Amino acid sequence: MPQVNVVILAAGEGKRMRSELPKVLHPLAGRPLIAHVIAAARALRPRRICVVYGHGGEQVPRAVKAPDLVFVRQRPQLGTGHALAQALPHLGASGLTLVLYGDVPLVELATLKAMVAGGSERLTVLTAELDDPTGYGRVVRNRRGAMTAIVEEKDANPAQRRIREIHSGIMALPTARLEGWLARLTNRNAQREYYLTDVVPLALTDRVAVATVEARTPREALGVNSKAELAQLERNYQWRYAARLLEQGVALADPIRLDVRGELACGADVSIDVNCVFEGSVKLAERVEIGANCVLRDTEVGPGTRIEPFTLIDEAKIGANCRIGPYARIRPGTRLARDVHIGNFVEVKASAIAARSKANHLAYIGDSTVGRNVNIGAGTITCNYDGAEKHRTVIEDDVHIGSDVQLVAPVTVAKGATVGAGTTVWKDTPPGGLVINAKTQEHRRGWKRPVKKKGNGEQ
Ligand code: UD1
Ligand code: CA
Repeated sequence: MPQVNVVILAAGEGKRMRSELPKVLHPLAGRPLIAHVIAAARALRPRRICVVYGHGGEQVPRAVKAPDLVFVRQRPQLGTGHALAQALPHLGASGLTLVLYGDVPLVELATLKAMVAGGSERLTVLTAELDDPTGYGRVVRNRRGAMTAIVEEKDANPAQRRIREIHSGIMALPTARLEGWLARLTNRNAQREYYLTDVVPLALTDRVAVATVEARTPREALGVNSKAELAQLERNYQWRYAARLLEQGVALADPIRLDVRGELACGADVSIDVNCVFEGSVKLAERVEIGANCVLRDTEVGPGTRIEPFTLIDEAKIGANCRIGPYARIRPGTRLARDVHIGNFVEVKASAIAARSKANHLAYIGDSTVGRNVNIGAGTITCNYDGAEKHRTVIEDDVHIGSDVQLVAPVTVAKGATVGAGTTVWKDTPPGGLVINAKTQEHRRGWKRPVKKKGNGEQ
């Protein structure tokens, strides 16, 4: 492989997105478009990666900055050729410059390798054959089939518009030629822009070899110019992700009703019902079952655990053979050991719950350490916040907490204790025994329930 520098063009406005956000920051599969392009560039291990940014000011560098990226500002934005010229001071005098577009996110490593394989003396353009080439630059070839020009749709004549072979935007150029070529570009075209694509005839004039590489699948060449195209690419990406999971043996109830916005790693015999969303890094061990409509973010789930429908889990570690949900919310910092049951309308935050403990209905467990074999009754809450600070609740092994208990943190319920229904625990309790608040219950004989008066006009 020749010495390669990558330049990612990302300065354009993206008018057709109709958004304040720079186009390359719109998310595809949960990450900015340009983050996909940067990842593809890194996989190639180039000498340097330059990002040309402009529209939207510092938003682009702020969103993706990293020590291995060089940011170059293009202001004003006068076209793709002008954009590449801004990066010239960073590209050295020889080797190959690989241009990627911040709005063409799905290009793959194998294709980029093919683009640079021709060496540093060749101009190579990545093309694709599209059923609908609308909006793309068309690849014009001579009678011998050699590419002679790339014509933008807005500049194309009717015959050229019928060409279905398009320019993906991705191009590898001999660095030594760049400065001369870019200086010779003009903006005499429909958009009054300096088109990078005009280097093709310049290369031919200079007798530099010109070649095309066809994308392995058209999707790699697809660009995002509108919300509709973004939505199509998203579906395309998700469909391909789902297909890979199916290949690995994951049972998907419906592969088109799955969204992975990050990485989903699955063990053997995992099954996932419809409409689930996985964000960040999610690991599901063998035999995990995910019910319909669950959202899991940056979470690990142990073998044999079942997540029931409508459950939301964020930054948690769930052990083996647990039952979570339906309608459970597990928040960051939660660690569940094996055989834990968290039922409907239970919220758990920053808490560690040991093996075989259960909170099956309507509870809030926050900033808590819960031992083994603990049962937490319906309506129980940890009062962890005093308005200023958060405090911890400790519930030791074998504790049984009745319904509707308030645990006012900081507080410890020692091993084996039973807390009666409706108790407010505001002091540490000794092990064993029963904890209750003295309460009375009376019965008022003959008491009458108020009745609504008729005819007083009130509703
Ligand atoms: C461009 C190509 C077209 C190709 C298509 C593929 C040119 C002249 N046209 O058209 O042949 O088929 O991409 O998607 O190159 N940009 C800058 N600075 C600028 C202008 C653009 O950095 O001054 C960046 C944009 O942020 C974007 C990329 O370059 O990432 C392409 O720009 P865009 O305006 O979308 O070009 P297209 O009209 O799509
Ligand atoms: Ca574009």
